[in-house]
Amino acid sequence: MTLSSAPGKVYLFGEHAVVYGYPAIPCAIERRAFVRVTPRDDSRIRVVAEDLTLDGFTVEYTGGTTGQPDVDVRPELVEAAMGYVDHAISEARDAIGVTDVGFDVTIQSDIPLGAGLGSSAAVTVAAIDAATRSMGTPLELSELAERAYRTEHAVQDGQASRADTFCSTMGGVVRVQDDDCRTIDAPGLPFVVGFDGGAGETGELVSAVRALRDEYGFAAETIEAIGHLVDAGNAALAENDLAEVGRLMSFNHGLLSALGVSSRSLDEMYWAAREGGAHGAKLTGAGGGGCIVALDTDGGAITALEATPGCEQTFRADLASEGVRVEEP
Ligand code: MEV
Repeated sequence: MTLSSAPGKVYLFGEHAVVYGYPAIPCAIERRAFVRVTPRDDSRIRVVAEDLTLDGFTVEYTGGTTGQPDVDVRPELVEAAMGYVDHAISEARDAIGVTDVGFDVTIQSDIPLGAGLGSSAAVTVAAIDAATRSMGTPLELSELAERAYRTEHAVQDGQASRADTFCSTMGGVVRVQDDDCRTIDAPGLPFVVGFDGGAGETGELVSAVRALRDEYGFAAETIEAIGHLVDAGNAALAENDLAEVGRLMSFNHGLLSALGVSSRSLDEMYWAAREGGAHGAKLTGAGGGGCIVALDTDGGAITALEATPGCEQTFRADLASEGVRVEEP
């Protein structure tokens, strides 16, 4: 039996624009998905998932048939999570050159599904790592990141960048532009996350932004503006200028809002964090619902978010300097 974990992430800058070849800067956070893999005597895949959201649920399935979770999570999200596991195991088999090895796969995650914290990337990365290790051939991190990207790309109908999977594999702060992916130095970043308890569907949101970009020149320009803003953010990080990083995050939120991927609760949490004294704030990930991330040095944003009716959870998120890792079973 092999147990691997991989971290979730927040986006400092650049989600959505990264899909069109602009840079993005995601940061790994200490919220992890744990995937335990045990080889079977047959070639079937059996998945047991626990605590895939903060509420938690269990789903058992064999092959491509999804069970019915007994919780308040949209079935599409559960199916999507299972789709990531299916593809991840195929990538692991392909990497080792076997087709007929089956696995029992158990997932535990404290990263809410579809909330912008990179749950699917973390599950995918940890699953490929655990499966390849259990077959005796751990992958180099670069190959692991590439195979995890292929998994997301396939499950999200060709609409994924390398940002989430590279960040979850490597940990730390990363800059991703097409296939140019690297870790970068960054100052201590006092992240606070506000979670509205909801979720967005990444594939649908990426498609909606693409449609807007195809129809309106202003949307294409907005996406380009996000790209420029990421470069400015990169420079502010290099200068250790938290105030400027925060200001640019707030600009980035406004631009994402213009692209239609924010929501009332995300906007309310964004304003609460800013009025609470954060350096800046923005939605993180695909949007539609889920999380905002704020840079908050003195705790004022936490207090403000805790008092915001649409905010179900508030927590500090430490940067995860370590990406995927093998755990003691
Ligand atoms: C989703 O976490 C981030 C998006 O930019 C999609 C992607 O990069 O694959 C919206």
